[in-house]
Amino acid sequence: MNGAVGDITRGTTNPNRLRRVDRWVLHAVCPTIRSAQQPLVVDLGYGALPITTAEMFSRLKKHVRPDVEVIGIEIDPLRVTQAKPIEVPGLSFQYGGFEIPTGDRNPIMIRAFNVLRQYDESEVISAWKTMTERLAPEGYLIEGTCDEIGRRSVWVSLRAGQTQPETITFSTHIASLEKPSDLAPRLPKVLIHRNVPGEKIYEFLQTFDRAWQAQSSFIPFGSRQRFVAAVEQLAKTYPVLDNKDRWRLGEVTLPWEVFIN
Ligand SMILES: C[S@@+](CC[C@H](N)C(=O)[O-])C[C@H]1O[C@@H](n2cnc3c(N)ncnc32)[C@H](O)[C@@H]1O
Repeated sequence: MNGAVGDITRGTTNPNRLRRVDRWVLHAVCPTIRSAQQPLVVDLGYGALPITTAEMFSRLKKHVRPDVEVIGIEIDPLRVTQAKPIEVPGLSFQYGGFEIPTGDRNPIMIRAFNVLRQYDESEVISAWKTMTERLAPEGYLIEGTCDEIGRRSVWVSLRAGQTQPETITFSTHIASLEKPSDLAPRLPKVLIHRNVPGEKIYEFLQTFDRAWQAQSSFIPFGSRQRFVAAVEQLAKTYPVLDNKDRWRLGEVTLPWEVFIN
């Protein structure tokens, strides 16, 4: 078997680990999937067990549209064979890589989670490009990283044909958060080495930490209220998107351009 673009990497996954990104997809990408002519969604690099692909399929089917089709694509042929028994109408698994071998059918969304983390930084832009070129014209690539149980997660969204993200989202389990910069280890590959003084991502995380600290008077009211107050403070200096409804979930989205030097 050959031709797939990419390398076989560790298959670590966990049930419900991608719930945060899936919840954001239901909010941000839902209208696009709903109005798509062809509701084809790809989960690239699902790992040793196809569990997060099956979870995304049931969420999209239940909350977005019942005729959604999800294809899990893996570069490890053994993982494809092992996933086949859980195929059902609308959910299937196939061998492939960044080239997204779905023939003449262009996905409306590709989710690639905890995949690029294991590649070299120099490979990221070309992987983004290869994937976004396969999207339907109005489609999204959602690429990100999370911790083992999905409590800290960061992802970017890119539109069809693009090599730079449109947005970046930071999402955290608030009750276990010590400070917002706890999310730093989950930054996308192209930002993780830039988390040093003088770089925009560093200044952002420091400002967020200071806002979190400044709102410690909210501790008696609960960490959720404290988080919302910290984001409100952050929004005075950063173009934070969305509103309290999202912030109270521990989720903060910004335009990607904020982090470009
Ligand atoms: C750490 S697992 C991630 C599993 C799941 N997405 C998650 O977040 O829980 C990464 C998987 O991506 C696969 N992978 C790496 N590069 C790939 C590529 N270019 N195309 C398809 N799959 C790839 C690896 O074989 C591995 O199974």
